[in-house]
Amino acid sequence: MTNSDIKAKDRKYVLRPWALPPGEPLLFAEARDCVVKDENGKEYIDFTAGYFVNNAGHCHPEIAKAATAQLSKVLQVSGKHSSVAMILLAEKLVLAAGGKMAKVFFATGGSEANEFALKAVRQKTGKKKVAYLRDGYHGLTLGSLAVTASKKYQATAVVPLGKNEYEVSNAYCYRCPHVDNCATQCLDETEKTFDANPDTAALIAEPVQAAGGMAPPKEWWTRLQSMLKKRGILLIADEVQTGCGRTGTMFAIEQYGLEPDVIVGGKGLSGGVGSLAAMIVSDEVGKDFYSGTTPTNGGNAVSAAAGFRLLELLEEEGLIDNAMRAGKQLTEEIAALEDPWVGDIRFKGLLGGVELVSDRASKEPLPKDVVGKIRDGLFDSGILLTVSGPHGNCLRIQPPLSIKAEQISHFVSVLKAVLKKVRG
Ligand SMILES: Cc1ncc(COP(=O)(O)O)c(C=O)c1O
Repeated sequence: MTNSDIKAKDRKYVLRPWALPPGEPLLFAEARDCVVKDENGKEYIDFTAGYFVNNAGHCHPEIAKAATAQLSKVLQVSGKHSSVAMILLAEKLVLAAGGKMAKVFFATGGSEANEFALKAVRQKTGKKKVAYLRDGYHGLTLGSLAVTASKKYQATAVVPLGKNEYEVSNAYCYRCPHVDNCATQCLDETEKTFDANPDTAALIAEPVQAAGGMAPPKEWWTRLQSMLKKRGILLIADEVQTGCGRTGTMFAIEQYGLEPDVIVGGKGLSGGVGSLAAMIVSDEVGKDFYSGTTPTNGGNAVSAAAGFRLLELLEEEGLIDNAMRAGKQLTEEIAALEDPWVGDIRFKGLLGGVELVSDRASKEPLPKDVVGKIRDGLFDSGILLTVSGPHGNCLRIQPPLSIKAEQISHFVSVLKAVLKKVRG
């Protein structure tokens, strides 16, 4: 079968219900560390890390080894029973999460694990409402979608969602009217909203918002956390994307001194092998949690063995420190371009990217078609990345945490040329 036959079958049989940018879907013929090859042998540096999953790089030989060893022992045991791999991963997650985290409930994906978190906080508090942050993303299944801020995504449910869910302000500091005298004024309204909703079980939030890379200042989270504690509102920290070292610490909560009641992990937790997600809870929440039964594939042994090895590698290979270093390098080198379209450069470790504007003073977002041309130019030059953010004008630059200094410098030089070319 030729490559074009395969691609024709992809178009014929695989449903992709979203707008496809030119060149996508890319057929990954080979992927190693930060580089993927398409079927024609063209190489791309993957600044998406396989959609923010392969934090130690694609096809890490140690992860392949751990998964292969597990393959000949036990493949799948649902949460009804157990495997050594699942137990050891649960222990590792609890120890890594620290604080009052005590037990793990395994699921198969981030959306699903968030659904369980929403149930857990309702069961614990007996309250029905859940608050979420503006621009937050928690998944596409109905429950998780109800706390995902995007109206565009919510509309895919056809029926209105959000009867028991409500939005509160995020910390989008680049476009904050109070930015020069920040006293977390954006939380004043949130405080009133919480008071108007005494039946609120929890706030679900990404410690750093992944779509757009908005990292709140520490004092913002400190104040929000004390507002929650004062009212007995639980905190669900959605670390599906920020976890596994991406922000420069194992979990982003560490950088903010957050003490959530529930942490949700996913994406890289499977080491890229199959799909695995986790709801990590305090004993207080865990003792009241009742799921009825287990998600069939929650805690797959092969995924757990690979995920466990990934967590070890993050430490052994200094990948979490490298995320911090690489985020700094990206910030410095992109700033040095002094490009008039670069409005804001936001990195927490290797979570974030660049917000593009047509005018730095007015901060007018660069039109989406122009951002699209930049993305296409990067793609043609062998750079894979995605576009996101509240205004659809952020280049999301999130490679594996193993990215090398020279790969970053190469990326920045390509970005420079593409920005110039698109500007004409
Ligand atoms: C913060 C966050 N939460 C939840 C999800 C949903 O995870 P999944 O796509 O595995 O359902 C994602 C996925 O991008 C995410 O980034």
